[in-house]
Amino acid sequence: MPAEIVGLGIAVPPYVLTNADLEELVDTNDQWITERTGIKERRIAGRDDSTATLGKRAAEQALRVAGVDLDEVDLLLVATATPDYTLPSASCVLQLELGMTRGAAMDVIAGCSGFVYALATASQFVSSGAADTALVVGSETLSRICDYTDRGTCILFGDGAGAVVLRRGEQGIRAFSLGADGARSRLLMTPAGGSRFPANARTVAERRHYIVMEGREVFKGAVTAMAASSLEAIRRSGLEPDDIDLVVPHQANQRIIEATARRLKVPMSDVVMNIARYGNTSAASIPIAIAEAWEQGQIRPGQRLLLTAFGAGLAWGSLVTDWTLPPPAEPSPEEPTQSAMPIVRGLLDGSLWDGKDLLPPLPGAGAGAGPVPEAAL
Ligand code: COA
Repeated sequence: MPAEIVGLGIAVPPYVLTNADLEELVDTNDQWITERTGIKERRIAGRDDSTATLGKRAAEQALRVAGVDLDEVDLLLVATATPDYTLPSASCVLQLELGMTRGAAMDVIAGCSGFVYALATASQFVSSGAADTALVVGSETLSRICDYTDRGTCILFGDGAGAVVLRRGEQGIRAFSLGADGARSRLLMTPAGGSRFPANARTVAERRHYIVMEGREVFKGAVTAMAASSLEAIRRSGLEPDDIDLVVPHQANQRIIEATARRLKVPMSDVVMNIARYGNTSAASIPIAIAEAWEQGQIRPGQRLLLTAFGAGLAWGSLVTDWTLPPPAEPSPEEPTQSAMPIVRGLLDGSLWDGKDLLPPLPGAGAGAGPVPEAAL
């Protein structure tokens, strides 16, 4: 039996960074950003948010929609390029935040295609019976690795999280196609902070902990790979391209999405778009887009969806699923927003972290506390 999406959720921070704000930070303008990318604004995580805390909110909503208890989750996968720590995994920190003390937890690192990779992986656990319930979260705090002095990258990225719950069902994920090309890894990376180039005074002084990208090359690779892997996933699903009702692409750049849609011969009216409001949220972009489109009634039962993504690695993936979940009675209310500029200025000069406890919180007397069970000693 296939794995079916039975719940989904979304969490975006309330802090908005507009194109006009970016004009104050780097040599750019609203017209350039809008014409070249389609982005008008993006969300920026507040000081007390992280990849795990945003993921927590999205995950809790997804579990609520699914009517599934936390202790029923057998497998938690977090797709992210911005884990809270190098060790432990973002998924274990998310477990801590959720109060989840059973089940397996691991991260999937595949850049912007991370959510498709994670969903494909979880679907195999669920459809094979290795897990009954999987929680798949795409969560990012890209503002933390974004250089707000580099106009080539800082205009693109935003923060947020989306989550889905998977269970076996009559209909669901039909097929996927994943690919990668490490030979092009240099096109999009954060050079320092790993084992090749660990953090030191020089890496900080040279601003090596931020995303660097050769935008034009990434652009070309994205269109080619997203179109090809989409067609392969459709072929593997036993469908024809005409059978796809709605495409949910990774929201990297409006022009990448339009060029991909042209190659797939899909009209833009059948493509889910929210890039104008969130920018590129990497592994979070597809689950955010699905959750919003579902809440707004754009995704309905009986439809066949194609998800397609591309990003750092380079890595890409596409997945075809039947949609079964009825839309909610009413969409979630819009949360009030405020300017992200004080946060971005605090990121730039480091003052955002003044007085902040850098360690994860210890759980209280409840879940996860107490001595290690004897059997584990
Ligand atoms: N504002 C104004 N001008 C800018 C600018 C900005 N924010 N960023 C770059 N420019 C300038 C460049 O300096 C260059 O000027 P020059 O011709 O005088 O040298 C000119 O605009 C063209 O730059 P280029 O990088 O070729 O622009 P582009 O059309 O390729 O658009 C991106 C740049 C980043 C928007 C585009 O390449 C892109 O979206 N790539 C994919 C990025 C992506 O999706 N990455 C994540 C992977 S999923």
